[in-house]
Amino acid sequence: MAQFGKVAVLFGGTSGEREVSLKSGQAVLDALLAKGVDAEAFDPAIRAINALASYDRAFIVLHGRGGEDGQIQGVLEWMNIPYTGSGVLASALGMDKARTKQLWKGIGLPTAPYRLLDEKTDYEAVIAELGLPLIIKPVHEGSSIGMSKVETPEQLEPAYREASGHDAVVMAEAWITGREFTVVMLNGKALPVIRLEPPKDVAFYDYQAKYLRNDTHYGIPSGLTDAEEKELQMLALRAFDAVGATGWGRIDAMQDMQGRFWLLEVNTVPGMTDHSLVPMAAKAVGYSFADLCVSILSQTLGFAVENSVITSAKVG
Ligand SMILES: Nc1ncnc2c1ncn2[C@@H]1O[C@H](COP(=O)(O)OP(=O)(O)O)[C@@H](O)[C@H]1O
Ligand SMILES: [Mg+2]
Repeated sequence: MAQFGKVAVLFGGTSGEREVSLKSGQAVLDALLAKGVDAEAFDPAIRAINALASYDRAFIVLHGRGGEDGQIQGVLEWMNIPYTGSGVLASALGMDKARTKQLWKGIGLPTAPYRLLDEKTDYEAVIAELGLPLIIKPVHEGSSIGMSKVETPEQLEPAYREASGHDAVVMAEAWITGREFTVVMLNGKALPVIRLEPPKDVAFYDYQAKYLRNDTHYGIPSGLTDAEEKELQMLALRAFDAVGATGWGRIDAMQDMQGRFWLLEVNTVPGMTDHSLVPMAAKAVGYSFADLCVSILSQTLGFAVENSVITSAKVG
């Protein structure tokens, strides 16, 4: 694995998802070391960023703001250090759930109706427009942090307050009743779809169901028909491509009771603990966790092409 040189595995960071990143990053670091890669931990919350200059490439396992949103990607571009995953634009867009939805809507991809909320919002008008239930989300968070389901008009204001404690920008989205799926993207392909079934006593796939409970069920194969599976993979590929995302990532989606798919969001640095969704889908196509990590790291070998030519061609 000498071709990689000295690799900084970036994890930790200062976002609300620091704890998740610490787990993901440690798993990636251990896997790369086991494969003989000269990898080291680099936590930007602790170390001065200019210390990155002594590394040949970076594996980004920072989730959330500061690490998944184009900031660290911009620093690495500036320092001319190849890095894994999406470039600056796609990372920044993907971190903004509202603008991502706006873009998808603009090119005719299905995503649930939504609107932004602020201090002056007329809550009755929101309910009249989007109906109930609703889901309230901080626009730039992940891991279901600060999100709540709203079933009655009285629940809307407290849900807004909760979300606004995590982000200056908050949105309300129409609730989709149905089944939930995620599609993992790796090296330009959509991997087998995973169905997510949170325990019955939680309102949605929340932080608890994601990380703390062991009774969330993951279906792979997804249980979709072959035609539906292909349709969702195609949709996910188009959605991923539309934001300019590259390398690896995940598209979250739902299927309503009529069988229609709705895109929720794109994750440009998804969870990478050994029981996360990306390793699960990769395993279904024969990758061990360590193979997966090396495959993602290999994206940095074509760095100049990946970031200057392909991304700008897609954007332009
Ligand atoms: N419109 C919606 N209708 C029903 N459930 C939703 C909707 N949007 C999100 N959810 C639930 O909330 C979870 C987190 O939402 P998501 O947009 O994926 O944000 P995060 O970045 O926190 O993962 C989803 O996995 C799903 O269970
Ligand atoms: Mg999600």
